[in-house]
Amino acid sequence: MTADGWFTASAPGKFVVLGEHAVVYGKPALVLAVDRRMTCSVRPADRPAINGEYVDISKQPHLDHLTRGSGRTLEFLTRSMIPVGSGMGSSAALSAAVAKAIHAMKGEACTEKQLVEEAYAAELAAQGSGSPMDASACVHGRGIAVNIPGSGDELWTISRGDRTWRVSDIDVPDMTFVIGNTGIRAPTGPQVDKVRRFVTRNRFGADILDEIESVTLEGHSAIAKRDRELLGRLMTSNHKLLSILGVSCKELNRLVNASLPYSYGAKLTGSGGGGCMVALTDEPEKVCEAIIDHGGVPYVVQTGVEGARMETGQSEDPEIRIPIRCRS
Ligand code: PMV
Repeated sequence: MTADGWFTASAPGKFVVLGEHAVVYGKPALVLAVDRRMTCSVRPADRPAINGEYVDISKQPHLDHLTRGSGRTLEFLTRSMIPVGSGMGSSAALSAAVAKAIHAMKGEACTEKQLVEEAYAAELAAQGSGSPMDASACVHGRGIAVNIPGSGDELWTISRGDRTWRVSDIDVPDMTFVIGNTGIRAPTGPQVDKVRRFVTRNRFGADILDEIESVTLEGHSAIAKRDRELLGRLMTSNHKLLSILGVSCKELNRLVNASLPYSYGAKLTGSGGGGCMVALTDEPEKVCEAIIDHGGVPYVVQTGVEGARMETGQSEDPEIRIPIRCRS
């Protein structure tokens, strides 16, 4: 706690190497956390406030959910280097950091699994449906596999309805990834709903999910063998399958296509409809140039980063302006 009563925690953003959307249906996924973090401070208050401004907390579904769970009225400070609404886990990182800071404020110990459950519940309160993939990646950091038998140490199992997600730790590969942000924000919920309509109305929708499953399982072996060429090819195949599901857009396709000449492969990351793509490359400068030339903003990201953790004070990162309309 700082002298003025703040409890501060941070959590990393993430990108999905393979498997988004299909993971909602209990299929496998591979995710890596990145060195862009969300830092949040909380303290008890008379009225809810974010970054010094009084707010109607009911309009901030993640924070509203977590505030109710704390049983107190809270104020928040938020700083972030994770682009909001862009497929990099901003809402899961927000939820994980706030949940961690609230436990510290209450003087309670908490496990990673508890944090994942709380962050996932906040995500569901905000977006209605989805998997605990983002919450798991932002809490644990490093790299995770979801529903991949024989991957690393099992971390936790989360179930909802008839779906179960078994999450395990993976060895983070020493590979270079470049993110390209289209700058278009697209909320997760409608994209997840769009895929649900697709897979329920199209007889071959389930086949697309099965193909994403195969690509993801093969990708897990490619990572284990450190086979960049195979992993890149699988990422590009995954992008094509996501395009068939209807969650890409012309701006994402433009950045993916522009990156491919300098990459092993590239794909959108997260729920799509805008947001970010990711390329696996040995030529990050060339990929960055191609992304800029085609209207995007590139970030060369470092992987292998720590998950949710306490911080001694607020970061110098930019403030997230109200309203926080995060999605992961
Ligand atoms: O765009 P993001 O960061 O919210 O990622 C969403 C990932 C999905 O698989 C599309 C949804 C989910 O909950 O798993």
